[in-house]
Amino acid sequence: MSFKGLKPIQYGGREVWPIVEGGKGVSATNHASSGAWAAAGGIGTVSAVNADSYDAEGKIVPQVYDSLTRRERHDELIQFAIDGAVEQVKRAYDIANGKGAININILWEMGGAQPILEGVLERTKGLITGVTCGAGMPYKLSEIAAHYNVNYLPIISSARAFRALWKRAYHKVSELMGAVVYEDPWLAGGHNGLSNAEDPQSPEDPYPRVKLLRETMRKEGISDSVPIVMAGGVWFLREWDEWIENPDLGQIAFQFGTRPLLTHESPIPQGWKDALRDLDPGDVLLHRFSPTGFYSSAVRNTYLRSLEARSDRQIPYSKVEAGEHTVKLDVGVRGKNFWVTVKDLQRAQSWSAAGFTEGLRTPVDTIIFVTPSERDAIRKDQADCMGCLSHCGFSAWKDHDDNTTGKLADPRSFCIQKTLQDIAHGEPVDDNLMFAGHGAYRFKQDPFFSNNFTPTVKQLVDRILSGD
Ligand SMILES: Cc1cc2nc3c(=O)[nH]c(=O)nc-3n(C[C@H](O)[C@H](O)[C@H](O)COP(=O)(O)O)c2cc1C
Ligand code: SF4
Repeated sequence: MSFKGLKPIQYGGREVWPIVEGGKGVSATNHASSGAWAAAGGIGTVSAVNADSYDAEGKIVPQVYDSLTRRERHDELIQFAIDGAVEQVKRAYDIANGKGAININILWEMGGAQPILEGVLERTKGLITGVTCGAGMPYKLSEIAAHYNVNYLPIISSARAFRALWKRAYHKVSELMGAVVYEDPWLAGGHNGLSNAEDPQSPEDPYPRVKLLRETMRKEGISDSVPIVMAGGVWFLREWDEWIENPDLGQIAFQFGTRPLLTHESPIPQGWKDALRDLDPGDVLLHRFSPTGFYSSAVRNTYLRSLEARSDRQIPYSKVEAGEHTVKLDVGVRGKNFWVTVKDLQRAQSWSAAGFTEGLRTPVDTIIFVTPSERDAIRKDQADCMGCLSHCGFSAWKDHDDNTTGKLADPRSFCIQKTLQDIAHGEPVDDNLMFAGHGAYRFKQDPFFSNNFTPTVKQLVDRILSGD
């Protein structure tokens, strides 16, 4: 018996449970996790963000980039991404064995999003039920979905964002909009869709926001049977009692991102799984270091702390003597006019004395102080860029026109491609970006995971359906 008589919904022409495993890049959902989720009757999501391919022996093919220019490496990356996602989808489809449904997830802000999506859909006809897509305003998503006759599921964090997408594009392809994913921008793992109007420090209750989303959808004539998928902070369904069969909300489904990270089929390395059991409330930080410019949520480990520290060792400067900028910087920079305040000069001198001897300029007329080895690592990562984003704050790469954002590369950020590939493929968890939702501390408290128990996906899905 499912919790509160939760009923299957119609999706892609069959009955599925209204529970979704959210797509997680890079390689944190793949064929194994999403195929198993679908086989258990739910909607599994293959991450099509630089997914893994396999060699003849079944080993993951390392994504090594041979080309000399970023532009050429970007083209290599598109090919890797298409090949990887196609392989993942085929395998997931086989594992699902006709049950549930397989979606894919892409980020609109990833480099080459459109050719990658088209390349994947071209080679997976009949295997994919829907495409979930967030991070940015993917106006083109509906048109591409129509071309390949798959569902599309926009991921949004406010009724306003949905309305803009609908008005401009999606109303023309209303029949293929499979669901609307509301991702709580204060709670969900990965990138978060906080707008300028929202305060990262003041989380808002999702209920009125989702209710407003449903009202907005109704005003546009969208049927209540088109589900709203609640994502972010969902753990036990019994905590969402009032959301189920609630006439104000219409059909609701639930998306899980963090909780399924700890299953047998979850492809993340054992070290990452172990670390999840050890988190306390407050260990996940909503921050703004991502090179996409978006907010995102990750565990506040050594890696994230070092980014925080780097930004803390930051002072503003002007190129001419002006206002309070009355003294010249004499550490970290060589022979140039960097005018700073007396107080900031003292701070810079103390950082330099502590080994942070290198000053790096940011795009907002500040200088940060790092060690020589940190500087070398930043420079190397910027030089190795393979153009994985449409706009990258860290390397100033842009995937179109002249391939540059025209801004200074920002040393306060980092190469997200490198660190997400590294953590997914077994490099130390503490030294890499560990995306997680703000409910990750619950692993420690949830009796289901006690005594080091790791469920299969099927066991987790059954547990979720029971309300627990
Ligand atoms: C490790 C990790 C990676 C994620 N990567 C993506 C991604 O590539 N694309 C995406 O749309 N959402 C991504 N998400 C968000 C999830 O799909 C899901 O919506 C979210 O985690 C739900 O919130 P929860 O973590 O509280 O369950 C990611 C989440 C995690 C934890
Ligand atoms: S530097 Fe930026 S665009 Fe280049 S690979 Fe890294 S994250 Fe992607």
